[in-house]
Amino acid sequence: MGDRPRLDEGGPIAGGGRLHASVLWAGLGAVAGLGAALGGYAFLYEPFDVRTERVAVRLLRDKAGLPRDGLNILHLSDTHFRGADRREHAKIEQVRRATAGEQIDLLIHTGDFLHRDSGLDNILALIDSIPKPRLGAFAVSGNHDHVFYNLSKAPIYSWRLFRGRENGAGMGARGRLMTADSGKAGLRELLRFGRYLLQKGFDGEPVGVNDIGRLRRELEDRGMQFLDNRAVRLGETGVYLVGIEDLMEGRPDLQRGLEEVPQDAPTVLLSHNPDIIEAEAAGRADLILAGHTHGGQIVLPLIGPTYTQTEQLSRSEASGYSRRGRIQVYVHRGLGEGIPVRFGAPPHVTFIRLLPALPRSGGEGARRNSSRG
Ligand SMILES: [Fe+2]
Repeated sequence: MGDRPRLDEGGPIAGGGRLHASVLWAGLGAVAGLGAALGGYAFLYEPFDVRTERVAVRLLRDKAGLPRDGLNILHLSDTHFRGADRREHAKIEQVRRATAGEQIDLLIHTGDFLHRDSGLDNILALIDSIPKPRLGAFAVSGNHDHVFYNLSKAPIYSWRLFRGRENGAGMGARGRLMTADSGKAGLRELLRFGRYLLQKGFDGEPVGVNDIGRLRRELEDRGMQFLDNRAVRLGETGVYLVGIEDLMEGRPDLQRGLEEVPQDAPTVLLSHNPDIIEAEAAGRADLILAGHTHGGQIVLPLIGPTYTQTEQLSRSEASGYSRRGRIQVYVHRGLGEGIPVRFGAPPHVTFIRLLPALPRSGGEGARRNSSRG
């Protein structure tokens, strides 16, 4: 009895155990607190932090047809509305404030208006909240405007899409699924599949359709034109806008879209999916406006964008301005999201000032700034 330490004496073993336990609990508490704070930020704050970005893009080829002061393009994308009124009304209000009083020449939406049909009323309210553009409103559809997805079979579905691609099919899901074979996979093919997933992420399996016909009719009633593999000349300017159907769920035909476009006309190509850049005919575009990537949606320190859904662009190109030779690309991060979290990739509206080329110049690319809207 006399050898046992009294409770108030503590002692090295019992005291160290209490110390370790309390440090452990404090550490776990800090980690849990940090996790809850980051989760709250990603779910409750950043998706509503709608930024206003302004980018000036000069043509890199000397083409006539753009006004000297250029065109003011309001670019929206990936709204993904589904009828979640509290979230969607908050975004609409921020867009209304960000665009109020702006002289907008063109309103562009590069697809994924809807996540589910139930978001249609809020899409119409969004378009109604924006000042009327001088030269019109134009859009292309995104994959989510056609279908909705289930991620539970994503690995198998992604594998079939990958195999179709290995067998030479292009971008479309239909073509890839038809071309995919079910033969045995070798180690090299599995490694390539791993690289493909690291680059692009999983594709969900379409499990239902959205009413894209109704979406189009309602938006066309408000003056928005869908450019499905076709082009329009913009008012009195010499600028052509070409739109392409969605690469995965639509029937894209860029050659057809470009048929009416003069070779020397300033050309802006609208494609929901930026992977259109792989098409040879995309070289005729001076500027490609796209969405689809959501900027990776979760952007982690050291890792970068986690889920870009692009096969052709690098992670650093999955958001904002980049260029390939004479083709300039602007990829919109979107206003909405399917899984309602964002981290390091806030939603935004972008005003793009499209300017003529500098005389005898290779052009200066883009200048950019951003502010909270
Ligand atoms: Fe999207």
